[in-house]
Amino acid sequence: MISLREVLKRAEAEKVAVGHFNFSDLVGFNAIIAAARDKKLPVMVGVSEGEREFTGVRQAAALVKAVRDEYDYPIFLNADHTHSIAKAEAAAKAGFDEIIFDGSALSFEENIKQTKKAIEAIKSINPAVLVEGEIGWIGASSAVIDKVPEGVGGLTTPDEAKQFVEATKVDVLAPAVGNMHGMLASMVHGDVQKRLNIERIAEIKAAAKILMTLHGGSGTNDDDFRRAIKAGMTIVHVNTEIRIAWRRGVEAGLAADPNEVAPYKILKPAVEAVKDVVRSRLELFSSR
Ligand code: G3H
Ligand code: ZN
Repeated sequence: MISLREVLKRAEAEKVAVGHFNFSDLVGFNAIIAAARDKKLPVMVGVSEGEREFTGVRQAAALVKAVRDEYDYPIFLNADHTHSIAKAEAAAKAGFDEIIFDGSALSFEENIKQTKKAIEAIKSINPAVLVEGEIGWIGASSAVIDKVPEGVGGLTTPDEAKQFVEATKVDVLAPAVGNMHGMLASMVHGDVQKRLNIERIAEIKAAAKILMTLHGGSGTNDDDFRRAIKAGMTIVHVNTEIRIAWRRGVEAGLAADPNEVAPYKILKPAVEAVKDVVRSRLELFSSR
């Protein structure tokens, strides 16, 4: 089975991105896998601390392993936005392919210190696990939000990126480049889109010379996505759009027949709704 590092290196060389989608349940998980298999594309699935508390850490890893074993399929599991070393260690022990140690809310110096500690702990359990570090504040939650969270909008500088990468030796870097976690209501309606600083992405890539992840993908302008990927983003995270699709699908499934009680029947529209989101984002991220 090809490794995640190899998949990312290939994507980087081809200037395409690997889609990363979060899940909390089998509706999301099965929809992501189905869309990726339809498109015959490698895919990353992620569980944040909250999501993996719900799925179970080892259970999430077992789901991914089952798909790999059954279909020999390149699907990879990420411990998204991990804030404690204990939780990073649990994910490494469970067999996750990537762990994001998120110290972006800390001071720059403290972030470097904690990220180094996390890398040491993770790599001593399994050196093959990729560790991603984050710099720059882009907000915390994949939710529909009222206003842009305080502090969001600052851009990571190429110097900061280079310094962080050299000091920590992370495998992957997540910088702040105009992106934000979550969606404003106006973004959900499609009146407003997130815009990215493409020039800054290219400058950071040139300075830090490292694989990079674009977080906060929901609600981003399609052309900005294309240009950001050409400029150096190799992983793109999408979550809020999936959560919205999940909710609308569940609502539709419940409304369709008030007497229906079979969960797998009620939840079918939710699987389809999530699948549509993942399919369209994968098409965009893999376009050459
Ligand atoms: O790690 C998760 C992502 O960065 C998702 O961000 O909810 O804005 O798509 P999003
Ligand atoms: Zn994120």
